[in-house]
Amino acid sequence: MNIVCIVGSPHGLEGNTFRLAQAVFDGVRRQGGVVSLALLGDGAVQPCRGCDACHRLGDCPQEDGFAEIIAAIEAADGVILASPNYIGSVSAQLKAFLDRCGGAIHCLAFGGKYGVSVVTSGAGDDQPIVDYLNRFLLMTGIRPVGGVHAVMAAQSGDHFAAEVRQRAEQLGEELVLAWREGRSDPQMEREMAAFRERMRQLVVWKGDEWPYEYTYWQEHHGLA
Ligand SMILES: Cc1cc2nc3c(=O)[nH]c(=O)nc-3n(C[C@H](O)[C@H](O)[C@H](O)COP(=O)(O)O)c2cc1C
Repeated sequence: MNIVCIVGSPHGLEGNTFRLAQAVFDGVRRQGGVVSLALLGDGAVQPCRGCDACHRLGDCPQEDGFAEIIAAIEAADGVILASPNYIGSVSAQLKAFLDRCGGAIHCLAFGGKYGVSVVTSGAGDDQPIVDYLNRFLLMTGIRPVGGVHAVMAAQSGDHFAAEVRQRAEQLGEELVLAWREGRSDPQMEREMAAFRERMRQLVVWKGDEWPYEYTYWQEHHGLA
C-alpha cells in the first residue's frame, strides 16, 4: 500500500506532529506499506482565491506545490493527514490545502482510498480536529479508518507515552489492513452515500457554470 502523509506543521520533520506520524508509519511499514511525504510547512500550498477555476476547468491557476500533492494522492492508495492543534483547529498551512480541494470534494475524486488523521497539541481537545480531518477525507471519497492524537503536556519531554505510541502504531497497521481487506462499515457507507447525493445535487444545479465537474460526474459517477 502506498500512502502519502500530508504534514501541516510549520515545524515539518522537526515537529511533534511528524514524530507522532512516524509512529503511525512504523505500523504501516510493519504491514508492508510505504509512506511518502508532502510537507506544507514552508507555504508550499497557498490559500484558495475562490476563483472557481477548479469547478469550471478542473485546474487551479495558482503555480505552487498543490498539483504535485494532488498527483501524489491520486497515485496513492491512502492518505495520512497530520496537523498541530492551532486554536482548536488545523494549522493554516493544512487548511489552505484542504480549501484548495473543493474540486476534489465535488468530484469525490479520491474514491477507493483509505486514510487516517494525526493531531498533536500543547494542552488538548484534539478529538474535534481528528473528527474534522476524517470528515474531510470522507468528503473526498476516502474511507477514514481512525485517528490518533497526543497532548504534549501529558507526555514526558519529547517522548510519547507508551499507550500513545501503541495507538499510533496500531492505527498505521489498521490503515493497511483496512485497505487490503477493502473494509467498510454500514454507517460509514450511509454517510458517504448521503454526502455523494449532496454533491450530485450541487453539480447538477451548477451544471452550466461548472462544466468540468458536470462532465467528471458523467464520466466517473454515471450522471445521466
Ligand atoms: C499558533 C499556535 C496555536 C496553538 N494553539 C493551540 C491550542 O489551541 N491548543 C493547544 O492545546 N495547543 C495549541 N498550540 C500548541 C501546538 O498544538 C503544539 O505545540 C503542537 O504539538 C505543535 O506541533 P508541531 O511541533 O508539529 O508544530 C498552538 C501552537 C501554535 C504555534
